[in-house]
Amino acid sequence: MHIQQNISLKSYNTFGIDVKAKHFVSAKSLQDLQEVLSSSAYPNKFILGGGSNMLLTKDIDALVILIDLKGIEVVSQSREHVIVKAYAGENWHEFVLWCLKNNFGGIENLSLIPGNVGSAPIQNIGAYGVELKDVFVSCEAIDLKNRSIRTFNKADCEFDYRESIFKQKLKDTLIITSVTLKLTSSNHKLSTGYGAIANQLQEYNIAQPTIQDISKAVIAIRQSKLPDPKDIGNSGSFFKNPVISKTQFEVLKAQFPTIPSYEVSSTEIKVPAGWLIEQAGFKGKTLGNYGVHKDQALVLVNYGGATGQDILQLARLIQKTVFKIFNISIETEVNII
Ligand code: EPU
Repeated sequence: MHIQQNISLKSYNTFGIDVKAKHFVSAKSLQDLQEVLSSSAYPNKFILGGGSNMLLTKDIDALVILIDLKGIEVVSQSREHVIVKAYAGENWHEFVLWCLKNNFGGIENLSLIPGNVGSAPIQNIGAYGVELKDVFVSCEAIDLKNRSIRTFNKADCEFDYRESIFKQKLKDTLIITSVTLKLTSSNHKLSTGYGAIANQLQEYNIAQPTIQDISKAVIAIRQSKLPDPKDIGNSGSFFKNPVISKTQFEVLKAQFPTIPSYEVSSTEIKVPAGWLIEQAGFKGKTLGNYGVHKDQALVLVNYGGATGQDILQLARLIQKTVFKIFNISIETEVNII
């Protein structure tokens, strides 16, 4: 393994923030990973996956370990189902496309989500009515304490909306090395309930969609609203949609009758942060080389050359303003480093 010094992380984070790693190594196998983790030469280690859910605000004074484990395997297959294992360093969307090519259904709604397979369970990625947990069987991870390999089944992961045990109790204690999913190999269960998908399919004149059609629709919706990190630096939704009490929602609804909402439980309501941020006047706002995306206010963007601190300051201003107007705290979804 080749350990490099003073490497720019610009091409390793989808925000395109130019900070430096003091030391950098790419781990291409489990052995590489275990070896580098046990090395005492670099006591401070920083684990990097697809870099799609982080805002880097400073240089990293540590050994940055890029998780570059590759491979996709069919573990078992029956007439209706297939168990597929993908390694952490596989690009998520490439994996979705591989599944679609093999006619394996279940993650077509999660097309075009940036990032790698290994990060998917951490925040239980979700879009257009489907979450990773719906197809998740288990994942394997290296325990950073003793470098043993641990397996987590679905219940162990404590999945919730953009949440898991890996973001909570076990934060910074593990590296996910592979993810195993149960997909359908026939009789696919389509999830077309999300309004935008239904509209898109109608536009295509497709009444009986295949999983490939759904993926195509999702890709079109995402491309129409969300900037491609290859063109404009971003980390997808910068904030989580806040969940508030029904009582608070009723008060807000009286004041802002058009406020969109989703019922979470009999006492709780989820409100789209994108709407709150738009109402607060930030949608499309540009401050030099960074700002808020013009088509989706949840997405902060780096047009090139912005620093993590610039974007963090904008995020704090948005949080403060939204709180002032709506009395709602919006939490960041991306990890601030
Ligand atoms: N809205 C606005 N203004 C905006 C953005 C949204 O008024 O600038 C309103 C929309 O009109 C709509 C509602 O907010 O009524 C919801 O918007 P949208 O369907 O775009 O979804 P979202 O709640 O803003 C979530 C996820 C996205 C995911 C979409 C689709 C979170 C934090 N974000 O966004 O995930 O793609 O639903 O399922 O839950 C990501 O995590 O990076 C991401 C892009």
